[in-house]
Amino acid sequence: MTVLKVRPGVMDIKRYIPGASKIEGIDRIIKLASNENALGASASAIEAYHQAADNIHLYPDGDCVELRHAIGEKYEVNPEQIICTAGSEQMLRMLPRAYAGLGDEILFGQYGFIVYHMAAHAVGATPVTAEEPDHRVDVNLLLKAVTPRTRIVFVANPGNPTGTYLNPQEMQQLRAGLPDDVLLVIDAAYADYVDRDDYDSGLGMVDEGPANVVVTRTLSKLHGLASLRVGWTYCSPEILNVITRLRGGFNVTGPAQASGTAAVQDQAHMEASRIFNDHWLTRLSEEIRGLGFKVTPSVTNFLLVHFPGGAQSAKAANEHLRSRGIIVRPVGNYGLADSLRVTIGKEDENNAFISSLKEFCQKA
Ligand SMILES: Cc1ncc(COP(=O)(O)O)c(C=O)c1O
Repeated sequence: MTVLKVRPGVMDIKRYIPGASKIEGIDRIIKLASNENALGASASAIEAYHQAADNIHLYPDGDCVELRHAIGEKYEVNPEQIICTAGSEQMLRMLPRAYAGLGDEILFGQYGFIVYHMAAHAVGATPVTAEEPDHRVDVNLLLKAVTPRTRIVFVANPGNPTGTYLNPQEMQQLRAGLPDDVLLVIDAAYADYVDRDDYDSGLGMVDEGPANVVVTRTLSKLHGLASLRVGWTYCSPEILNVITRLRGGFNVTGPAQASGTAAVQDQAHMEASRIFNDHWLTRLSEEIRGLGFKVTPSVTNFLLVHFPGGAQSAKAANEHLRSRGIIVRPVGNYGLADSLRVTIGKEDENNAFISSLKEFCQKA
């Protein structure tokens, strides 16, 4: 028997189960489970990655200067207020370490990204959730759930696994309703996909002050660099001063910085990825609805598909898809056992998904 003491909360963490990528006995897998970019990374980002290989014996730039400046230029924000991380998940886990602890509460919507639960437990804080009617964050319900113990509010905008979003008025209402000593974390991992007049990732809210808003972004999605782990956060100098003390000195590798810099400068690849995604998001939604399923309207690179037959039907559909080599994401861990999350894939992959879902319907 061990006498080692584990910090309170750690054993409450449910281990993260990444999307499967293999099915025994099937050679050709179609993976539509992890919200990656179907078109991959840009050629210039891949080229920069190869070139960086010559320097992997050297420590990288601990301040990510070139990457921060490239991001600053592309997104029109002050590079001095950017922190780069190994994926945005690293930041989502660091913020509670800085601003919450034992007995505190960390608040988010009912379908909040699974990492929020883990990050809260890791510091001994209590995750608190507010209902999301129609699979959409409800600002009034979030504000109602705030207590004197609330230290952080996480909002994924757009949300995963829902794909829905809050408009700027709603986000401003949330911010205005929060006490100044509560940190609002806007997790805008899918922001680069959203092309709506009534959407904003919230970068401007950081500049407006007061200093209790941070926006996290990633190059894992539209930029296609999920494996390299590059995320960035825009925040006030005050928050930057805190977080810089917690992050590792060399938390973003050299190849990741080089490739990330090239990726944010490749406007054409971003545009092509967005256009491709828009086309298939609409087309897949229509096809799936045409088969009688409910699809939550999404502004991301994935769809949440609801099965009228409930959890059993979703499970049977998942099994049928797997028998055809197609991996989608069951979302029972989000309390959505009657649904499956499907990432937009390449053209042939999307077509294969639709054909298999049709087969499933005919079988049923
Ligand atoms: C809502 C949301 N936030 C953050 C992340 C983390 O992305 P990464 O750590 O790759 O930047 C993801 C990844 O799927 C996500 O869905």
